Amino acid sequence: MAPAEIDGKYFLSYEEIHDTIRALSRKIMDDGFDPDVIVAIGTGGFIPARILKTFLKKPILTVGISYYGPDNKPARTPHTIQWIDEVEKKLQGKRVLLVDEVDDSRVTLEYCLRELLRHGAQEIAIAVLHNKDKEKRGKIPEEIRRYYVGLELEDRWICYPWDALDITEHSRKADQPSTV
Ligand code: G4P
Ligand code: MG
Repeated sequence: MAPAEIDGKYFLSYEEIHDTIRALSRKIMDDGFDPDVIVAIGTGGFIPARILKTFLKKPILTVGISYYGPDNKPARTPHTIQWIDEVEKKLQGKRVLLVDEVDDSRVTLEYCLRELLRHGAQEIAIAVLHNKDKEKRGKIPEEIRRYYVGLELEDRWICYPWDALDITEHSRKADQPSTV
């Protein structure tokens, strides 16, 4: 079902997200991809990765990458907020599932994939909760063969429950019947 759309923005509830991630985990399992480890891109990928762990039962490592600078304005390129040395060691020879909440411009994803590809993983697959149907500035490197999407959406701003200052108000919006 399409999410609630209000003033050109999508509002998603935790319930909808949980259901989408359950379906996403099915796609991954049905495709025969059995990751050794989940790598969550922070901060947007943290909660989706944690829910995915409920279904896939794999450990999570996290990396912090942001496309926004400290002043909250988009930076020219993504930058690393946190990159644990341990991550590099732990990826050697492993099947990795890289998780983020949204594939938007794809720039952050590309940056992260290129970093991870340097660390000798056996295979890296991508799982995103949402993909926006739009022209992408970033490119998924050729080495990446598996890309899983929870839900395909139009190119609109998505309001996630974890960003809500008032979760009751957010839930009320998310629970409105979709007009599309
Ligand atoms: P991509 O490679 O995954 O497509 O990400 P892109 O660089 O285009 O995204 C830049 C930032 O904008 C990311 O946050 C991403 O989560 C956020 N973003 C893009 N579209 C939406 C949207 O529709 N709704 C919301 N809420 N966020 C969106 P970031 O800089 O990585 O920070 P963080 O929020 O993950 O910590
Ligand atoms: Mg993000």
